Amino acid sequence: MKGEYCVGSASFLSFVALMLLIFVHVGQINTSTVPYGIAMAKVNMSGFGQALSTGVVKFDPVLGLYTNNYTSPLGEQNGLRQFYQFGLYSYCAFVNSSAGTCTNHTVADRFEPYIAITSDMLQNYTQYSFGFFGDTTFGNSDYLGNNAVVAYYFILLGTIFATIALLTGVARRAILFFISTAMSIMAALFILIGAAIWTSIVKKCESVNTQDIASGVLSGIVVSYGNGIYLTWAAFACLAASIAPYMISCCTFR
Ligand SMILES: *[C@@H]1O[C@H](CO)[C@@H](O)[C@H](O)[C@H]1NC(C)=O
Ligand SMILES: *[C@@H]1O[C@H](CO)[C@@H](O)[C@H](O)[C@H]1NC(C)=O
Ligand SMILES: *[C@@H]1O[C@H](CO)[C@@H](O)[C@H](O)[C@H]1NC(C)=O
Ligand SMILES: *[C@@H]1O[C@H](CO)[C@@H](O)[C@H](O)[C@H]1NC(C)=O
Repeated sequence: MKGEYCVGSASFLSFVALMLLIFVHVGQINTSTVPYGIAMAKVNMSGFGQALSTGVVKFDPVLGLYTNNYTSPLGEQNGLRQFYQFGLYSYCAFVNSSAGTCTNHTVADRFEPYIAITSDMLQNYTQYSFGFFGDTTFGNSDYLGNNAVVAYYFILLGTIFATIALLTGVARRAILFFISTAMSIMAALFILIGAAIWTSIVKKCESVNTQDIASGVLSGIVVSYGNGIYLTWAAFACLAASIAPYMISCCTFR
């Protein structure tokens, strides 16, 4: 392949990877009133109230567990929301398919779904939730939070390396092609690790989907992958595919 085509395809792949990664980052920086953006993990709490009233609080209808006020702040026992979405910088919670609110943005936000939901419930419900989820991965906020922070920094560094690969790859200098090859390898590796950690922690959380909270009564909580995980994997694929053309340009084109 001629050098121009080679470096062109490598740059194109790095560019696509970088765009995908920017979406993964920016998806949660969006502060519009409808921030139904890009998340790494989703938690559907719709069935939990029903599960609680059939399995646990049998005599007592579960009143006041959920809130319909989509503007009320999260984490202040204002009531549970139907859907939660966790991203790299914040989490958002929705009372229906479109209306919701997000927490303030923090760098390397911890993925702690159990804390997120229990801090929205009124005090008299949290006593129940502790019993069911205390020993599960879903309830292990230290483990999930720490892994999400580590994964965040891998994704952040991978994004920086991908940017350097893209920028150094466009100049016609052998030494810069060497740098872009090295950076594309590092970027692919870091994004791979970040994506793998997120995939693994969400996968482990999914065990709550089939957990009983009373005999024969499922938790009613549905954890699933957010689209941010798929975008991260797609970015990895692009970065991995860009390595060979960068390498060829590095050796043959100056
Ligand atoms: C949430 O879970 C309930 C069952 O618990 C299901 O009926 C509903 O379709 C789910 N909603 C979304 C948006 O996934
Ligand atoms: C919803 O929550 C916000 C913020 O706490 C509050 O100002 C507002 O009055 C609430 N709305 C209703 C209808 O309760
Ligand atoms: C969601 O809730 C908001 C506020 O309560 C409401 O304005 C909106 O119409 C609802 N959307 C849907 C799809 O139900
Ligand atoms: C979130 O940010 C707003 C505005 O910057 C601030 O008033 C509020 O106290 C913050 N909330 C938390 C929980 O830090």
